[in-house]
Amino acid sequence: MPEQTLTIADNRTGESYTLPIENGTVRAMDLRQIKIDADDFGLMTYDPALMNTASTRSAITFIDGDKGILEYRGYPIEQLAETCSFLQVAYLILFGELPSEKQLAAWTYDITHHTFVHENIKTLMQAFRYDAHPMGMFISTVAALSTFYPEANEVNDVENRLVQIKRLIAKVPTIAAYTFRHNRGLRYVYPDNDLSYTGNFLNMMFKMTETKYTANRALERALDVLFILHADHEQNCSTNAMRSIGSSRVDPYSATAGAAAALYGPLHGGANEEVLKMLSRIENTRNIPEFIQRVKNGEGKLMGFGHRVYKNYDPRARIIKRVADDVFEVTGRNRLLDIALELERIALEDEYFISRKLYPNVDFYSGIIYQAMGLPVAMFPVMFAIPRTLGWLAQWQEMITDSEQKITRPRQIFVGHPRRDLPT
Ligand code: CMC
Repeated sequence: MPEQTLTIADNRTGESYTLPIENGTVRAMDLRQIKIDADDFGLMTYDPALMNTASTRSAITFIDGDKGILEYRGYPIEQLAETCSFLQVAYLILFGELPSEKQLAAWTYDITHHTFVHENIKTLMQAFRYDAHPMGMFISTVAALSTFYPEANEVNDVENRLVQIKRLIAKVPTIAAYTFRHNRGLRYVYPDNDLSYTGNFLNMMFKMTETKYTANRALERALDVLFILHADHEQNCSTNAMRSIGSSRVDPYSATAGAAAALYGPLHGGANEEVLKMLSRIENTRNIPEFIQRVKNGEGKLMGFGHRVYKNYDPRARIIKRVADDVFEVTGRNRLLDIALELERIALEDEYFISRKLYPNVDFYSGIIYQAMGLPVAMFPVMFAIPRTLGWLAQWQEMITDSEQKITRPRQIFVGHPRRDLPT
């Protein structure tokens, strides 16, 4: 076996250095020994947007972007989406193994019995304007939870951490549903402990005058699959935010609010909202060639296409297309689907998209499904945030228990004015 090292020759000094290579990686800190003299700080790497920097060792999610593979704890996303419930997958992601029947029953009980929020949370949410963006309400309310559980800042206490994790996973659907009811001017609906995670969410969203709400089984399952697909995606922008904020040892409510804020952006979880706006603007399949031309001219992006990691079809998008068929059988076909399908067909045959390896990502079809379920576009990023809260928490927990991690603090290359004195 060849030696796992890298030899670097510093042409400034004539010195040479041999660095160990582990997992295809050299440690950035090993470069510090490379100096021109004793006063030199040492060599650094420059990596804006962290395009080629591993910030952690993680055992949670594996992605092979070139092959279009996504696995949680070693299990392919296709198998998990086919056979598991969201709560099973949540347990897997968090604890590393699928739960036994007994473990799943206890886990489901715990999550179900943490779904209620303090009445003051309701009052707090009622203070938002009638048309407040649901994601803004979601972020603020999740942050506010930290004031209800001040003990949550004991982040090194294993038991305490687990209670907060359960609370967050259980309460985010409640908060999300309240944001929707708030925008509609409807009474907030309390959780129903008889229902499944997604069945209860649909109950809190759509219950009207009926004494007991029963979700459509197909929609409940479709939502479960969508939640599984969105549960984790290794070191993406919001997860990196979660880890970075959490590295200061702040409580997980504040860190989750920060991660949700990162998710809100149009280049991340806000993309599904942008996809729907884009499809609505295109209006008709006849207008697609002209729209594609504008994208190629640099006048905008084809939202829901492209990914930092996937340079192949996003495996989640493939599964979502199948979920769409199940949902449309219940809700009727969303006319925007025809535009999306045609847009995908034309883009995948176009040299611009082929040469840049731009394929549909998870957000390209998810919005069409959510719209068919009766959700307004502003709710789409919130629908992403509910299941991703689980992923953030699993990553946060991994970071807290990783002895190599410290407070995140990148370096900079200072390009400003050199020292000067104020005019006298
Ligand atoms: N439409 C048109 N051109 C694009 C697109 C797109 N959606 N995405 C990338 N490109 C072009 C880009 O202009 C660049 O072209 P050139 O080489 O001529 O300058 C080339 O492809 C490489 O793109 P990049 O911007 O260097 O890629 P990135 O890795 O920095 O960006 C991305 C990844 C997801 C931010 C980007 O593809 C994008 O903005 N897509 C649209 C927004 C979107 O759908 N986001 C959801 C991501 S998936 C869900 C999630 O995890 O949040």
